Amino acid sequence: MNRAEPFLEALDRKARMLAPAARATYEANKDLCSWLLDPLGRWAEAAYGEKVFDEAARGYASYCLGVAQAQRIYERAGRYTPEAMPEIMSGVYEDEGYMVPYMWAAILIYAFWPSMVNHLALFRNNFLRRLPSDASVLELACGHGVLSLLAAEERPDLQVEGVDISLPAIAVADRLLKVSGHSGRVKFATRDALQTNGSDGGGGYHGIISAMLAEHLPEPKPLFSAMGRMVSKDGLVYFSTAIESAQRDHVYEYNQESQPLQMAEVAGLRAIWLVSDAGHASAGGRFLPRATAMIFQRR
Ligand SMILES: C[S@@+](CC[C@H](N)C(=O)[O-])C[C@H]1O[C@@H](n2cnc3c(N)ncnc32)[C@H](O)[C@@H]1O
Repeated sequence: MNRAEPFLEALDRKARMLAPAARATYEANKDLCSWLLDPLGRWAEAAYGEKVFDEAARGYASYCLGVAQAQRIYERAGRYTPEAMPEIMSGVYEDEGYMVPYMWAAILIYAFWPSMVNHLALFRNNFLRRLPSDASVLELACGHGVLSLLAAEERPDLQVEGVDISLPAIAVADRLLKVSGHSGRVKFATRDALQTNGSDGGGGYHGIISAMLAEHLPEPKPLFSAMGRMVSKDGLVYFSTAIESAQRDHVYEYNQESQPLQMAEVAGLRAIWLVSDAGHASAGGRFLPRATAMIFQRR
């Protein structure tokens, strides 16, 4: 069943200025966007009822507005000027009223921003479809949990664990999990991605997902060290991050694609595929907001 349409119609109602661009991105990438939106629409409606489409559209609208405002402040300041971590924790990650709409937006941008559609392609084609059989997968900062659920949907042989620092985000992930039919193979927990749980010493995971996390960490180098330690010899890491792209909770500023690549190399990880895209950029600023996604394997 086509579940993209309810999301797009909700954008027409609740985010009218953003709807044409979102629809154009969807129309140009129907197969890939439906790969995300069809199961997402099914799970979201089963978990939250049909009001969820309007709520997701409102979340998408306020997120896009927040991104545009943050980018204007960044252009004036010349650098990211985030609040202190305790304020980000209480005002963003621990605040259900902020976090739940943010989580709908965080997943919808994969289907509605041209730059993120390329991430989705890399995630599905070059990561999920190439993981070894019966792989165990860890998702760091899983947020809404939808990438983990898509992993389970795409590959019935995978076992997936997702962790996120935000209780309200994990509550969304758990609600979607409950109706997804993947409860036996996916589990979510509230935890700091950098906090070890004893199982990360010996290359215990065949797949690691770290999507749009590094820019949220005051210092991302320990994230790369942890991924280098945790991924198995034959495993793959899917990594993505924002570059020169300000948001309220972006605290680490990357300016060049070579910076995360270098951090990965130092941690023993080598990029085997990479996309970087400024598909959502506005022209004329001194910064070019973009997002990069990479697949790493152990060197
Ligand atoms: C932009 S969202 C990305 C969510 C999802 N990975 C995606 O790609 O849509 C950033 C996520 O990072 C989480 N986060 C931030 N700092 C974290 C940390 N230290 N450990 C675990 N999760 C963290 C936030 O709670 C939020 O869910």
